[in-house]
Amino acid sequence: MTGLTTIRVDSSRPYDVIIGEGILDNAGKKIADVKNPCKAAIITDSTVRELYADRLAFSLQSAGFDTCLFSFESGEASKNIDTLSDALEFLASRKMTRSDIIIALGGGVVGDLAGFAAAVYLRGIDFVQIPTTLLAAVDSSVGGKTAIDLKNGKNLAGCFYSPVLVLCDCKTLDTLPDEILSDGTAEALKYGVLFDGELFGKIASGKVAGDRESIIARCVDLKRMVVETDEFDRGARQLLNFGHTIGHAIEKCSGFTISHGRGVAVGMAMIAKAAAQKGISEYDCAPRIISALNNCRLPHKTDYTAKQLFEAALLDKKRQSGSITLVLPRRIGECFLKKIPVEELIEYIEAGI
Ligand code: NAD
Ligand code: GLY
Repeated sequence: MTGLTTIRVDSSRPYDVIIGEGILDNAGKKIADVKNPCKAAIITDSTVRELYADRLAFSLQSAGFDTCLFSFESGEASKNIDTLSDALEFLASRKMTRSDIIIALGGGVVGDLAGFAAAVYLRGIDFVQIPTTLLAAVDSSVGGKTAIDLKNGKNLAGCFYSPVLVLCDCKTLDTLPDEILSDGTAEALKYGVLFDGELFGKIASGKVAGDRESIIARCVDLKRMVVETDEFDRGARQLLNFGHTIGHAIEKCSGFTISHGRGVAVGMAMIAKAAAQKGISEYDCAPRIISALNNCRLPHKTDYTAKQLFEAALLDKKRQSGSITLVLPRRIGECFLKKIPVEELIEYIEAGI
């Protein structure tokens, strides 16, 4: 293991996020620091299972854990109630108890689903996040949001449930196809637009490879600050939804064939264009976001109509009866929340198209 960065998240259930290279093969020891050896159920998907599950199981066994493994078909389409049900039945069949542990090994789909399983199985057992996509490393593995999708929309069932530890081995990102790596770049860019012009500049160049570890650590630290201020998403945490209202609508319209990262990329460009048209943001904000997305080989446009996107967005969980809270950029590094009547959303979508 090379020099590791540890970030302590002081939420209602505090935990460490450990970032560095070579952590996977030492995961057992790191987990033994927070949990006495017990049964450890690894939950992963079919792709990550082939790549990393054996190494994780070996490391856990070497540290005294008794392992078992549940895997499901990779992809967003699996983040549903059927897979959740199969995972819970698996945990019960292996007689997992409240003193045992779940290890989520994979991207955001695995983390969200395994986290939700951990939250509801026996009314809650401990779990560890081991993110293996850039998106999961910079965003979804931290902050305790867990969820599955329903037929009616994305992340519509879930809860807040923090992991006891997050272990991010940046070496595991080496096997990511470019397209999936760039999905994570979209979420990292989001942190730059929201809070940090310097971070934005680093990512906007499109050359993140050499700086990967420091970019992940900076994003995690920014997320830590937000989560410590507003763990349960009642205020400042809603800023993290920058690009997500339109992004989720795009994902939904595509039947989830467009990835979360790509949806968010287009959503950020569209809401920035809308903010520019309404005279809310600095003149160069939207062009800089679009240029950064181009450099990172991410899309900034959609073929869906404003009406299609609006209808899909009506199911967004961020809607509260007659209103919805938008995240609008003022400039790179500064955004704000604006609550609007839900009917006005169509104007923003039309302005962004
Ligand atoms: P994902 O988990 O589907 O992973 C993308 C693909 O990469 C999958 O096919 C997976 O098998 C593969 N993969 C994973 N690690 C790999 C590796 N190291 N090498 C090669 N292939 C690998 O998708 P994602 O982009 O990681 O996550 C998207 C999900 O995260 C969405 O469901 C989204 O809603 C959720 N999300 C949650 C939060 C949160 O706070 N909980 C935040 C952002 C996104
Ligand atoms: N990814 C949004 C959040 O964690 O709040």
